[in-house]
Amino acid sequence: MAIQRTLTLIKPDAYKAGNIGNITAMIEENGFKIVHALLFKFTEKSAKQFYSEHEGKPFFDGLLQFTVSDKVLAMVLEKENAVADFRKLMGATDPAKAEPGTIRAKYGTALPKNAVHGSDKESSAKKEITYIFGEFASIPSNEKNHAKEY
Ligand code: CDP
Ligand code: MG
Repeated sequence: MAIQRTLTLIKPDAYKAGNIGNITAMIEENGFKIVHALLFKFTEKSAKQFYSEHEGKPFFDGLLQFTVSDKVLAMVLEKENAVADFRKLMGATDPAKAEPGTIRAKYGTALPKNAVHGSDKESSAKKEITYIFGEFASIPSNEKNHAKEY
């Protein structure tokens, strides 16, 4: 499996609860390298664009309201098989159904407050990383034909 990059957001519920450190520790303990990080607050317009695939779904308005409610920590994570491995570490979307030991089981509460986001496939990772950090950030370090190392 190739080295990949994926995007995670530590969401407003986890930021508010003071779980940035705990979740970041789990991420690092599981072999992911943090290669970019940004703490910021989504505007309604940018949240809408980030979650545009869900527009029209019954949970969309609640998801937007939650997403803009406080800051998020966006991070680009690098590892072999990062996209699928991070989905596994994150757990199921609904914290009540998330496998024990996963981030969402430990730190999520109830939908939409499930503590973290993780890209669902490689093409989404590229799109989401590019949206927040720019296209260069989406390229794994071993594929960069560039002097800079980030
Ligand atoms: O985040 P994930 O890819 O696991 O799930 P999604 O289907 O892409 O949904 C995006 C986000 O919408 C979830 O992480 C939840 O925060 C929220 N959601 C919700 O509030 N109610 C649902 N029934 C499904 C998702
Ligand atoms: Mg998703």
